[in-house]
Amino acid sequence: MLDFEFMSPTQFVFGRGVEEKVGDKLAERGAKKVLLHFGGQSAVRSGLIDRVCASLDAAGVECVKLGGVRPNPEIELVREGVALCKKEGVDWVLAVGGGSVIDSAKAIANGACIEEDVWELFTTKRPNANVLPIAVVLTIPAAGSEASKNTVISNDALGMKTGYGNEHQRPKLAFMNPELTFTLPPYQTAAGITDMFCHLLERFFDDVDAVPVTDNLNLSLMRTVRAEAPRVLADPEDYEARANIMWAGMLCHQGLAGVGRHEDWATHGLEHELSAFDTSITHGAGLACLFPAWMEHVHAENPARLAYYGREVFGLAPTGDVCADALSAADETRQFFASLGMPTTLTELGIGEDEIDKAIEKMIPTLKKNKGEVFGSFKKLTMEDAEEIYRSAV
Ligand code: NZQ
Ligand code: ZN
Repeated sequence: MLDFEFMSPTQFVFGRGVEEKVGDKLAERGAKKVLLHFGGQSAVRSGLIDRVCASLDAAGVECVKLGGVRPNPEIELVREGVALCKKEGVDWVLAVGGGSVIDSAKAIANGACIEEDVWELFTTKRPNANVLPIAVVLTIPAAGSEASKNTVISNDALGMKTGYGNEHQRPKLAFMNPELTFTLPPYQTAAGITDMFCHLLERFFDDVDAVPVTDNLNLSLMRTVRAEAPRVLADPEDYEARANIMWAGMLCHQGLAGVGRHEDWATHGLEHELSAFDTSITHGAGLACLFPAWMEHVHAENPARLAYYGREVFGLAPTGDVCADALSAADETRQFFASLGMPTTLTELGIGEDEIDKAIEKMIPTLKKNKGEVFGSFKKLTMEDAEEIYRSAV
């Protein structure tokens, strides 16, 4: 087990109706004026924004609203939020939405406390301890941003999508009501489940030997997500299944499932380029195409680890040929994502044989900027590896 530091400062308030407690909990923590940040439509249409506003009002917490966060959130709206926070003297940022809204809120919370343009943090990766405290009302279990230390922001002008990690931007409060996820379209439910499952895969496959306490936690989450996924898709209003998926999404990415390991994160790096190339691509859908392709590309590095995963998560019986078992595990992963309704090829995402050259020409230089010459840990990938993986996923 490698040495590690782990911090999880988030207070979770979980269950039916918890959004009604937002005002009181924020007032308890001394919030006076919050930036209420939200997405395109869903939270307004469902009346959630009105309910949250009423709760803030009842608790005497002032609020400034900024909506319109798009999936794959963009830096321009972040800059607008930063200016608004500075002008209004905001002391908390409250995100109501999914990973995109939360990530935008995290970037704003950083930017509101620094002098330089907030994009600088994404390029320099410099540490920043001055961050406004963040609260979250989660509406889609997926990215795990409700407790994670990361934010991922797109910069359309530069054609980039880049992450920034900072322990100080982990949310302080997360309100999680599974009923708020009943309205999710099946595609978003499935993409979210795929993303959380991939957060476990990124942690399970690296260059470190077994860490049983971490690995068994990870495997048990994989089995849980796999078992609950068909239940939420079959009945979107199954509270118990939605609750299990929602809590799992947090556990998959707050960090415990990878402590003591290096972790890999190559596939996330590859996917972020895809959704920067075409901002209409949903993160989870991109991962569904790329993760099995990555597994096939790297399997020879440590086939026993992939075969072990196949046995533990999918119940695959060993055949005596460990490489064949590793490849079966990759294919089983693809079938799992397909069973949720996710695409399995980039062609289905609009990047077929005719488009892949153009996509690669654009993605490889920004991938190199984001990840360096070599990246990943299960197998150190070069830009040539990256290109092969993209092409094999077409
Ligand atoms: O904008 P609205 O109208 O709200 O619609 C959203 C959006 O279109 C909709 N939605 C959300 N809750 C809903 C709902 N529709 C109906 N009912 C509800 N209850 O769902 C769509 C997707 O929302 P989004 O926030 O984009 O989804 P997700 O949580 O998957 O976030 C994706 C973003 O997170 C980043 C991804 O790269 C992507 O940009 N990630 C962030 C991470 C982190 N901060 O730690 C880690 C992840 O690996 C990931 O990279
Ligand atoms: Zn992800």
